[in-house]
Amino acid sequence: MTGSTTTKIIATDTAELFAAAVCRAAELLRAGELVALPTETVYGLAANALDPRAVAKIFEVKGRPKHNPIIVHVSDLEMARRCVREWSPAAERLAKSFWPGPLTLVLPRSPEIPEIVTAGGDTVGVRWPSHPFMQAVIAECGFPLAAPSANLSNQISPTNADHVRNHLCGQIALIVDGGQSQVGIESTVVDLSGGSSRVLRPGMIHSEALAAALGTGAFAVTESILSESVALKSPGLLEKHYAPTARLVVCSWKEEEDLNAQIAAYRAHATGTFVIAHTQIPSGTNLGGVSVVPHDAEAYARALYAELHRCDSEGAELIVVEALPEGPEWVAIADRLERAQS
Ligand code: TXA
Ligand code: MG
Repeated sequence: MTGSTTTKIIATDTAELFAAAVCRAAELLRAGELVALPTETVYGLAANALDPRAVAKIFEVKGRPKHNPIIVHVSDLEMARRCVREWSPAAERLAKSFWPGPLTLVLPRSPEIPEIVTAGGDTVGVRWPSHPFMQAVIAECGFPLAAPSANLSNQISPTNADHVRNHLCGQIALIVDGGQSQVGIESTVVDLSGGSSRVLRPGMIHSEALAAALGTGAFAVTESILSESVALKSPGLLEKHYAPTARLVVCSWKEEEDLNAQIAAYRAHATGTFVIAHTQIPSGTNLGGVSVVPHDAEAYARALYAELHRCDSEGAELIVVEALPEGPEWVAIADRLERAQS
């Protein structure tokens, strides 16, 4: 992607660099500019959430459809409450259990939040991220930040500053390098705006953890609601999302011959085929590459997008991902792989 702006990437790995980056990012955000910032889930493309003209630039730069609302990021509970019209007991419980962290709560929108942020809707998604840089910038600004993932629309979210540069170089003035995102996939989005709690987008805070935090009282997340939740989508999940350029398939195999036969059936060149495995590791002598990712959901999520970005940058034609284990902690990863398959 080319553009007319000179994009600077700045480091944050000493106290002085961190402080200087906070000042520079806040300065641009106050001036109504966009800045790409690290969060613990994925990098975000941030703007002052209270400035509709700044938020409009997010839609332009990402090529984001106007009907897709943007999450608002805060640096404390008081700021979260100001973004919403009603702060419910369920919100209080989930916030107490999981904030700061990879959880977005959808609640009735406060009139202070411009319509463009919520795509004209009545609700707003609010998240208090745990990444220290993101927290410091929001606190320095004193206003909440609207921030979708810092990729072009429909592509894989960035989990480091290089990924952001590959998508947005020339489009924005500043990318802050806050290291590798520790969670690695996008936040869990929970809708609390109706009478019950529904997961709109699964994330690493999974349904069982949410149900446990909500308790078995009036705010319990019921089984039926949870199974329905996966079918019910955030507006942004209606489109193809989180997809690498290469074709991605999920397969199971025992022997390497079995894997090779499956690859042959996809009619991709062996050298253009990359395998991402966690348990049955092929030698892959004939293939473009083999990545071994940990057989542990948290570590797997942290590594997944970086692997997909790497396959794309190495010109993969076909990405073969080994089928995942079962279990609540794998649900969000399975969801992202599902979306990545064409
Ligand atoms: O982890 C994350 O959530 C990252 C980081 C940057 O915070 N952000 C992120 O934003 O993934 P984005 O825009 O790429 O995805 C946000 C999702 C979209 O599917 C959007 O439709 C949904 O959340 N969403 C946002 N506000 C909503 C609302 N008021 N109601 C329903 N869904 C909403
Ligand atoms: Mg996104």
